[in-house]
Amino acid sequence: MSDTDLARVLDGARVMPVLTVPSAATAGPLADALVAGGARCAEITFRTPDAEQVLKTMATHGGLTVGAGTVLTPEQVDRAVTAGARFVVSPGFDEEVVAKCRELSVPVVPGIASATELMRALRVGLDSVKLFPAEPLGGIPMLRALAAPFPQARFVPTGGIDAARLPAYLADPAVLAVGGSWMATPAHLERGQYGEIRRLTAEAVHGGAT
Ligand code: 3PG
Repeated sequence: MSDTDLARVLDGARVMPVLTVPSAATAGPLADALVAGGARCAEITFRTPDAEQVLKTMATHGGLTVGAGTVLTPEQVDRAVTAGARFVVSPGFDEEVVAKCRELSVPVVPGIASATELMRALRVGLDSVKLFPAEPLGGIPMLRALAAPFPQARFVPTGGIDAARLPAYLADPAVLAVGGSWMATPAHLERGQYGEIRRLTAEAVHGGAT
């Protein structure tokens, strides 16, 4: 398991919409809009009561490789995997979460914000981590500086990234994929702006073409 497997699960997908979905009723049209925009993966955060149902709906949609985000406990790992999560993302590095993911053979992407945290992740055999929160930490210069002593590490920077900042992250050789919520926000969902979700997703994935 570990990150070779994450890369395999992502299968070349490099733009990861991070979704906080208040109502499971929007999961179907949301998945349709993301796929129409060219997304091939998505992270559903465990920040809403409907998150598990959203995960189930989007995991069975067919067009997306769906993972769980904001996973903080081993119990949430169980629930996420039962709901169909193909990978697990956490804002920080928690050994129990990592151990549970290994037990269930699901790739895990722990968040790290320092060289010390990255060394802990590498020591337990992971090679892909979420750099979080990427922009407040210093963005690309921070990523470059952190990557230099750890050539084996691959990063999924997330946090504060938008369409304007995306290309520089994608161009970085240490970046496996880039996550962000700007393509589909709770406000978009509340207003039913699926066309806008599709447009923003296409802009991110293809530079605008659908
Ligand atoms: C996350 O959970 O990874 C972040 O909240 C996403 O960050 P963003 O909302 O700044 O894109």
